[in-house]
Amino acid sequence: MQKTLIIFKPDCVQRRLVGQILQRFESKGLRIAGLKLIQVDRALGEKHYAEHQGKPFFEGLIQFITGGPVVVGILEGNEAITVVRTLLGATNGTAAAPGTIRGDFSISKQNNLLHGSDSPESAEREIALWFRPEEIVDYSVAGSEWVFGGA
Ligand code: RTP
Ligand code: MG
Repeated sequence: MQKTLIIFKPDCVQRRLVGQILQRFESKGLRIAGLKLIQVDRALGEKHYAEHQGKPFFEGLIQFITGGPVVVGILEGNEAITVVRTLLGATNGTAAAPGTIRGDFSISKQNNLLHGSDSPESAEREIALWFRPEEIVDYSVAGSEWVFGGA
């Protein structure tokens, strides 16, 4: 089983879309291994988006991600990193395919509702950045054998 980090960005919280988007992940079969609402400060925002430091959109991105509370979570399941990125769709909401989360709910490049880790290395780094070990909960979900059967 693989774990990935997701962030319901400030636009997602303000537009009251957290519940229905979280339901998509649950319906897919992913297990919630961690979940919390927090106000991101500049230091955390800069660490999370360190790879974009120096790019023209960086300052706007930090303003955006610190502009209101976010819900951050850890999802677990078969190929969770790729599965979540596929459910999210293309980065730019104007180009994301219908049926994907961004394709259905976003019409902006920046305000694209959610973040999902893009590789196993990113997932490991981001989970350690956003969660303390005791906030990550290990439990089995009833019926998992029917969801993950045969991997
Ligand atoms: P994320 O990291 O948030 O999951 O998104 P991503 O991998 O699909 O896209 P990435 O290239 O990592 O960009 C990070 C976030 O920066 C904002 N962005 N704004 N104004 C712009 O040109 C621009 N480009 C990217 C988006 O919020 C994007 O998700
Ligand atoms: Mg990214």
